[in-house]
Amino acid sequence: MALRSGDLGAAKALKLFQGPILAIESSCDETSCAIVSGRQVLSNVVSSQAELHRKWGGVVPEAAARAHVQAIVPVIDQALSDARLELSQIEGVAATNRPGLIGALSVGLTAAKAIAFERRLPFIGIHHLEGHMCAVLAQSEPVSFPFVGLIVSGGHTELVEVASFGDYSLLGQTLDDAAGEAFDKGARSLGLGYPGGLAVQVAASTGDSGRYHLPRGLRGETANFSFSGLKTAVARLVEAEGDRLSVPDAAASLQEAIVSVLVDRALLAATSHGCGNLALVGGVAANLALRERLAAGCHREGLRLLLPPIDLCTDNAAMIGLAASVRLARGERDGWDLDAYANAPLPGR
Ligand code: KG4
Ligand code: ZN
Repeated sequence: MALRSGDLGAAKALKLFQGPILAIESSCDETSCAIVSGRQVLSNVVSSQAELHRKWGGVVPEAAARAHVQAIVPVIDQALSDARLELSQIEGVAATNRPGLIGALSVGLTAAKAIAFERRLPFIGIHHLEGHMCAVLAQSEPVSFPFVGLIVSGGHTELVEVASFGDYSLLGQTLDDAAGEAFDKGARSLGLGYPGGLAVQVAASTGDSGRYHLPRGLRGETANFSFSGLKTAVARLVEAEGDRLSVPDAAASLQEAIVSVLVDRALLAATSHGCGNLALVGGVAANLALRERLAAGCHREGLRLLLPPIDLCTDNAAMIGLAASVRLARGERDGWDLDAYANAPLPGR
């Protein structure tokens, strides 16, 4: 099938809000504020709560909301100071308002509203996954439409066709655990701590990925994923091997099981939809093995790969600012009554 590579000048044609936007992300356990102008990230401050939640082995919503309350003002101050701007120079304001932990989202959303209300600035709420998708605007390749986006985070694993930002069609998704969850749960079984993705990547770097065979979930030509069998298989492996277990080999085998499925399904989705562009976004897109394997696969298949810089893959406010840059430029605005939502589909499905 002929691949549609889209209009290579699309990035130039894509209208972006000119003038600095202050963006806030607080949907889970990172308090982040960024200043973005057009597609330029002027600052991006991320305060992680990982240390706080480590003792519980996962995010405790009430504790997350309280930690956001403590961090939000210093993080905003730092973002302005890093961008060498005063609050009075900001021309637009955005915050993640969905999906996420309600208490956590409300902190960032309320701070953003207060800033925008005081000066009657254009204000918009952003879908967290659209933020992840718009992180591709920060990489050097021109963004051309349509593209297939693989969103891989702690809570989501979705393949989406992107006709343009804001116009998403779901091609497939996980039927159970997300890819990030598979890394995190596997890491916990292997005693690698929380959050697990980076810890698995580090342990895997000295391991043999062929040592233990772990399940690949769904078979056949599908755009869906299933990772829940993997966590059970890793737990069983740990039990069966006992002291003989090689943690680096198990970590490498776990990473291989996740990466191979993600790469195969993403390439299949792009080629079967005749789409010449593929984007990899979300926290798991920080994984080096996944980035390398997908880059090699895209090269082989003649696809262009859109890959955000690593620090814009895990949760951050710069990606929210980039999404706001697209939407504010279209004249979109939200009212002061905008609410936070735990669950919400990507817009335009
Ligand atoms: O997008 P994200 O920061 O937060 C959510 O929206 O969920 O994604 C977090 C997920 C976690 O599951 C974390 O373990 C995973 O991304 N992650 C990684 C790596 N860095 C973060 N997984 C594999 N390799 C990494 N280097
Ligand atoms: Zn995320």
